[in-house]
Amino acid sequence: MEFITLNNGIEMPILGYGTFLSNGDECEQSVCKAIQAGYRLIDTAEAYGNEVQVGKGIRLSGIDRKELFIVTKVNFKSYENTRETVLNSLKNLNTDYLDLVLLHWPFGNYYQAWRELEQLYKEKKIRAIGVSNFDPDRLVDLIHFNEVVPAINQIETNVFCQRQAEHEWLEKYHVKHMAYAPLGQGQQNEMFSNAVIVELAEKYQKTPAQIMLRFLTQQDIIAIPKSTNGLRIQENIDVFDFTLSNEEQNVLRGLDQKKAMIGTPENPDFVESAMKW
Ligand SMILES: NC(=O)c1ccc[n+]([C@@H]2O[C@H](COP(=O)([O-])OP(=O)(O)OC[C@H]3O[C@@H](n4cnc5c(N)ncnc54)[C@H](OP(=O)(O)O)[C@@H]3O)[C@@H](O)[C@H]2O)c1
Repeated sequence: MEFITLNNGIEMPILGYGTFLSNGDECEQSVCKAIQAGYRLIDTAEAYGNEVQVGKGIRLSGIDRKELFIVTKVNFKSYENTRETVLNSLKNLNTDYLDLVLLHWPFGNYYQAWRELEQLYKEKKIRAIGVSNFDPDRLVDLIHFNEVVPAINQIETNVFCQRQAEHEWLEKYHVKHMAYAPLGQGQQNEMFSNAVIVELAEKYQKTPAQIMLRFLTQQDIIAIPKSTNGLRIQENIDVFDFTLSNEEQNVLRGLDQKKAMIGTPENPDFVESAMKW
């Protein structure tokens, strides 16, 4: 595993395990499998409704809590009650501190939510605080009018949606880039069958998914692929024994379609559908 240092000096694994759409026993078992396969960073969220199962999977793994880096997110509907929500996440996950808590979306009263997170951070209930799905303008605004600079912005990022301009903004403000949907949610078969990616996979005796994940981690981007399949859980963490050359990275940069799949706050349909979550 490789690590990245956040703007408050905390170290975080550069590759973690995602749990979106993973629920019940399957979630518990696959979190346990992931930890036993070597993952130490686990990403969940209040909105996923699986914090309890994630907590059970962690305990089942038998790994010491201190070795893990647990991330959760506050749903925008809870922004008026952020403190209570985080305290509830602590209970759900059966832990007395969280490594990272993110504001899930820049909707509603995220200023109040941020200030409550700052307070919980000062009380050491959370080791680092950050945001998710924040476009650069909102992020810069939040940074300028608050005390703590977010350690992370978790945004959709993969070979087809690389966020190169956003990455530069994040670097400028010392906010680390965390990629969700690093495999394009597995639905975009063109990503897995793309000729450039397949050729690199053959060259390095790796799979297309491993090339996509290595491409991110080599750029200091934290990736959190999700799988509930034991073999793919192992495959996705086995990416640290090869290095893409600069030239290969440049070719991969050329695959950027600059189009987010999951939606952005600028898309009114998306905001409307999010209100129903
Ligand atoms: N902040 C946010 O708003 C936000 C939004 C979305 C996601 N997230 C976080 O980011 C994590 C990752 O994103 P995601 O789950 O949406 O998408 P993802 O990790 O890009 O893709 C997951 C999908 O890819 C498949 N898959 C996994 N490994 C594979 C491999 N090696 N080869 C082929 N297919 C593979 C999985 O199926 P199998 O399970 O069958 O392997 C699953 O259907 C989430 O789980 C969540 O923790 C955050």
